[in-house]
Parts: sequence; C-alpha cells; structure tokens
Amino acid sequence: MSIDLTSQLKKSFSPEILDIINMAGEIARDCGFPLYMVGGVVRDIMLGRRNLDLDLVVEGDAIQLATLLSKTSRGKILVYPQFGTAKFRCPHITLDFATARSETYSQPGALPTVSPGSIEQDLLRRDFSINAMAIALDIDHLGELIDPCGGERDLNDAVIRVLHGQSFIDDATRILRGIRYEQRLDFHIEPITQGLMMRDAAMLATMSGARIRRELELIFDENKPEKPLKRAEELGVITYIFPLLRVNDGVLSKLQGDRHRGLPVPHAVCFSLLAHGLSQDDGDAFVKRLKFNKEISRAVKDTIKLVEQLSFFHDPLAPSDVYERLRDYSNHAILTCALLSESKIAIDHLYLYLDRLQNVKTILDGEALKQMGVPPGQVLGEALWELLRVRLDGKVETRQEEEAWMSLWIRDHALGG
Ligand code: CTP
Repeated sequence: MSIDLTSQLKKSFSPEILDIINMAGEIARDCGFPLYMVGGVVRDIMLGRRNLDLDLVVEGDAIQLATLLSKTSRGKILVYPQFGTAKFRCPHITLDFATARSETYSQPGALPTVSPGSIEQDLLRRDFSINAMAIALDIDHLGELIDPCGGERDLNDAVIRVLHGQSFIDDATRILRGIRYEQRLDFHIEPITQGLMMRDAAMLATMSGARIRRELELIFDENKPEKPLKRAEELGVITYIFPLLRVNDGVLSKLQGDRHRGLPVPHAVCFSLLAHGLSQDDGDAFVKRLKFNKEISRAVKDTIKLVEQLSFFHDPLAPSDVYERLRDYSNHAILTCALLSESKIAIDHLYLYLDRLQNVKTILDGEALKQMGVPPGQVLGEALWELLRVRLDGKVETRQEEEAWMSLWIRDHALGG
C-alpha cells in the first residue's frame, strides 16, 4: 500500500470527528464486530478531497453498534430496522451504519435481494473499483485498506472501472454515476467499461423515473454539471433518459449558474433548460417519465409555453405590460427563459419581473376601494388591477396619490353615485 491511511485519516477529519471514529472503533472491537469506512469517503480520503459523508459497514449488527455509540457519546441515532441500518448524528458529523451484505438482482433494474455477508462481498456488489474500497476502523486494524477490486491502482491511474460485465444491467443508473465521477475527478472511463456503458445504455429506459431524476439531480449538483451532461450526450446515453431530449452547448453553458444573481441554478430550472425545446405534448410526456413533483412539472410546462413568447419581450415595454404577460408563469420558467434568451432587453424585462415587479403591491386594498365607492365583483377586480398597473409604472407612490388616482378612475367610470 502506497498511502499511509492512518495519517491520511487524521488529515481528513477534525479532532472531534476522529474522536467519534475512534470511539466507534473501540466499541466495534469490544463487540467483536469488524468495522470499516467504505465507498466514496475512502476514495476521497485517498485523493485528499474533502468528504464528510461517512458510510460505515459492520461485519455484525450495525444497529447494535450505533446504539452503543450513541450511549457512549453525545449523539442521537435513527434506526431503520427494515434495512438493518442506523444513522448516528452528533454536532459535527453524521455516520451511516450498515451491516455488510451481499446482493443478488432478481431482474434488471429491480431492487436487489440482500443477505448478510463479509466486507469483501459488500465491496464486490458496488459500482466502480474506486468506490469499492474499505478502511478498517476497529482499533486493532485501524487504517488497513481492503481493496479486492484494484481500486487503489485505478485511483493512481485515474480510471473509472466497473466491477463486472453485468453491473449496468443490474443497475443502469451506474452509467450516469460513472460519467459523473469521470468528469468530476478528471479521470477517464476505461475502454471495456465504456463499451459496457454504451451496450447497456438502453437499460436506462427501464429504470424508474424517480431513480433517473435523482441521478440527474446529482449531476446538476456537481461543480460543473455541464461536463457530465455533455459526456452523456457524446456517449449516446441522454436519448435513453427521454428519446427527444438533446443537450447542446447552448443549454450546457446556461447550467453553469445564474450569473445575474450570482446563484446556482435550481433543479427545476435545470430540468426546464433541458426540456425547453420540446413540444407541449412531449413536455407532458417528459414530466410523466421523470415523475416530477408539482413545482418542477409546472416549471417545465410553463417554460415550453413561455419560450414561444420570448419575442414579445424584445421590444421596449411598460413594467405593467411585462407584469401582465408573466404573472401566470412560474418563477422557475421565467428564470429559465432569462437564462436562455440572447436579447439584452428581454433578459432585463424578465429579471425586472423576478426581482421587483412580482412583489409590487398597492397600498389601498379591496376594502379601501369599496369604501371609496367601487362596487364588489368584477368592477372591483378591474379597479384593483388598474391601480396596480399605475403603481407598477411608477405613476403613484403614496397612499394619497393612490386615493387621488382612484377618485378620478371612479369618476371616469361613473361609479360611486
Ligand atoms: N453504490 C453502488 N451503486 C450505486 C450507488 C452506490 O455501488 N448505484 C455504492 C458505491 O460504493 C458508493 C456508495 O455506494 O461509493 C455510496 O453511494 P453514494 O453516497 O451515492 O456515493 P459516493 O461515492 O459517496 O458519491 P458522491 O461522492 O457523489 O457522494
């Protein structure tokens, strides 16, 4: 082994976290349960990357171990008996405890059947060699690396390698995971793995919408989401997520962030950017396929409609015209269109609405207008809108100005007796 993992562990975590890890290691030894840190955190410790997602695997009873740890330290635990797992939370960190297991898949894409197993079996069921390593934590073996699949070699060679030829058939989301790791770490997918990805990409079409959506969200959460998406398009994978979906450079550049506000792009906007070129019917099918919640569904559908109207915003407009055109659309759809538009004036109009106009309120409310003589019903609605319109356009500011304007409106409309 080329890396001294004990000192690497010390460098990776604060003293408080190391105390908890040591405590867990002592309890594990006392119980006779070998305990390991596994998966992404091991990969990141070896790469010197920060990762506080601590997955621990026990050859023994994970719930018992986590319960004992919570009694010895100031943490709280959540227990999931149906999965044999437990979450231990303390102020600095969350540790996820699971019992080592082996897995078999009854059919492609289904959830696996699990049974207790050794740490090696637990590692062999995983996605890529770089994610299939463990570091021993029980105090007598602290820092020992368990690496049955050549993960350390692949980390050194900057390679993403799948563990066996059936892996993407068992779980096609791993295709997207592999691309995500490759692009995040600046690694490369080795040729056999890439061949299997392309061979099995069609399996993505059999995955549940929720699982595909989750993988896309993980991509959107990357520092540079455009890189894995571009790679997925190059490998011909995107079309199996949804047949009419295409990601071109224009869309990819928009995923990099909402520069106007210096904010990351919300998931609803990312999905809307991907879907904006679809027809309304295809947009509806996309929404169904990925089982979006109400918020994202609305964003996607509204975007498809609003994109068709963008030319309206290319001309100089009164703020109230901008407001009237946009008030029924979701903010996510408006932001998506602001990101997509190439017209400075349209972009300004869309952000004007998002940043200011949508929050404008009149001072006088319906009750005040009724007292001034506006009858309830349709006329009242019209009066409130006309008053809001002049406020949006900056023609009234104070309550007195609103009252004066409203009195004239009432007179002109021969209301109020
Ligand atoms: N895993 C897997 N197959 C999957 C999902 C997860 O084998 N489809 C395994 C991998 O060993 C992975 C671990 O479970 O490392 C934890 O999963 P997750 O938290 O999703 O992965 P991380 O590697 O921690 O990823 P990230 O750095 O993106 O959080």
